[in-house]
Formats: sequence, structure tokens, C-alpha cells
Amino acid sequence: MEKKCEAPIGVFDSGVGGLTVAREIMRNIPNERIVYFGDTARVPYGSKSKNTVLRYSRQIIRFLRTQEVKAIVVACNTASAYALEEIRKELDIPIIGVVRPGARVAAEATRNGRIGVIGTEATVSSGIYSQFIREQNPKLQVLGKACPLFVPLVEEGWLKDPVTVEVASRYLRELMEQGIDTLIMGCTHYPLLRSTLRDIVGEDVTLVNPAYETARELGELLKREHLENPCSGDCEAERYQFFVSDLAEKFRQFANSILPFDVNRTRQINIEEY
Ligand code: DGL
Repeated sequence: MEKKCEAPIGVFDSGVGGLTVAREIMRNIPNERIVYFGDTARVPYGSKSKNTVLRYSRQIIRFLRTQEVKAIVVACNTASAYALEEIRKELDIPIIGVVRPGARVAAEATRNGRIGVIGTEATVSSGIYSQFIREQNPKLQVLGKACPLFVPLVEEGWLKDPVTVEVASRYLRELMEQGIDTLIMGCTHYPLLRSTLRDIVGEDVTLVNPAYETARELGELLKREHLENPCSGDCEAERYQFFVSDLAEKFRQFANSILPFDVNRTRQINIEEY
């Protein structure tokens, strides 16, 4: 029987965006196996209610448990904002989200105390980044801006298109006028817009990618819990597995455009059965 530390990490998102988190886990803790689930049938989560996102997240976790994962990463800002705290109480394996790690880095990075957060309607209106940042330092000011057009633009592959530049300029104008010096890319898709965002905000604004910090925290958590995978390559089953609830081929193509290796298989499951 497989030892627990050799079991995979379950990583889930509403769709393809969480691959930016999976990519950082692959880079930072390459020994770990991953079972990724993208809820491509029910994306977007960012415009859904808390109850719906909680129900979806519980179903996905039930599926991931069938894959015998040793820990779970909620690689979706919206699900981290709406569902993580509830789900954590129901689980007997470690689970982390992307919001707290992103908030911590931003609180450390700011020099003038003004932090901008961009994300889905759900993430921004939940106020969760603001809450976590103020737990670090109550004096910090947090300014949120929902950017609902970014997700479809990224999915369309328009990462540097003039339309995207115009949309991003409009979304960011207000935050820039308020003098932010740190900007959290609080949605899994946004790191893919990094260079467009960088051109708009300039070199003086620190861009925070919560995915990077999440991967680092996951590494620390596995160490603390004695769950690190000691195998570096030859004793694993399939290292990275990808499951979706719809459009497996479209997902595979997107994954191939952002991951540093070829994804040759993506399996579709009926998530409503879980
Ligand atoms: N993955 C979502 C997030 O990080 C963005 C896409 C969606 O709205 O489902 O908030």
C-alpha cells in the first residue's frame, strides 16, 4: 500500500485559473504529486452566491477524497473567500487557500500602507483580503476593485490585446489615483495578465501573486505535518493528474499553454454525483 506521504495533493479551482497555483506548486515542491480538479462545467464562481460555492466546494472535496489526497489546496480565490473556513471544520486532512498567503505578503510588502486588491465580485465584496491584511496590521488601508471582465479576456487568450489594456487601465485608474503601492492579483487568472498590469501600474507598485506564496506555505505545512513526499521521480504513479467537469479537451489545450510540460490526458467526471 502507498504510504501517506506519497499520496497526492488535491488542488481545485472553478476552472483553468488554478493551474497558475498548480504551476507554482510544481516549481516549488517538485516531489509532490497533484490531482487537479477544474470545475469547467460550473465556472465562474465569482458571480455565484456563498451557498452555491460552498456546495460546489464540498462536492469537489468529496471527489478529491476518493483520490486519497493527503492535503488540499483551494486554488480559487472565490472558493477560498466563501468556503474555506466552513470546509476546514469538516476535514481531517490539512487544507489551505490562496487568500491568507497573499494577504500576508502584501502586508509585508507595502511601504505606504495602501494596498489594492483586484478579484471577482465575490472575492472583493467578501472583504476577506481586507480582513486578513488588517489582522497583520490594523493601520493598513485596503482598496478593492472587482474586475469581472478579466476572466473571460484571459480565457480568450487576449493577454496583451489592446482591448485588455484598455479594460485594465479603466479598472486600475481609481486604485492608482488613491496611491496604492502594492496590488494583489486576487484571482487565479490575473497572474496571466501580469505583464499588462505591470505596464499600467509601473515599476513602483509591487504586484503580489498569491499563488507563489501559497506554494511556499504548502511546502512548510507538509514539512510540519511530516507529509513531504520523499520520492523524487522514480517511485511515483502518474505525477500530475487532471480532472474536469466539462470540456476536457479545451482544458487540456489551455493547460498546455501555461504549464512547462505536455498534459496528454484530462479526464471528465460528473461532479454532481459527489
Ligand atoms: N478562480 C476564480 C477566482 O480565483 C476566478 C474564476 C471564477 O469566477 O470562477 O476567484
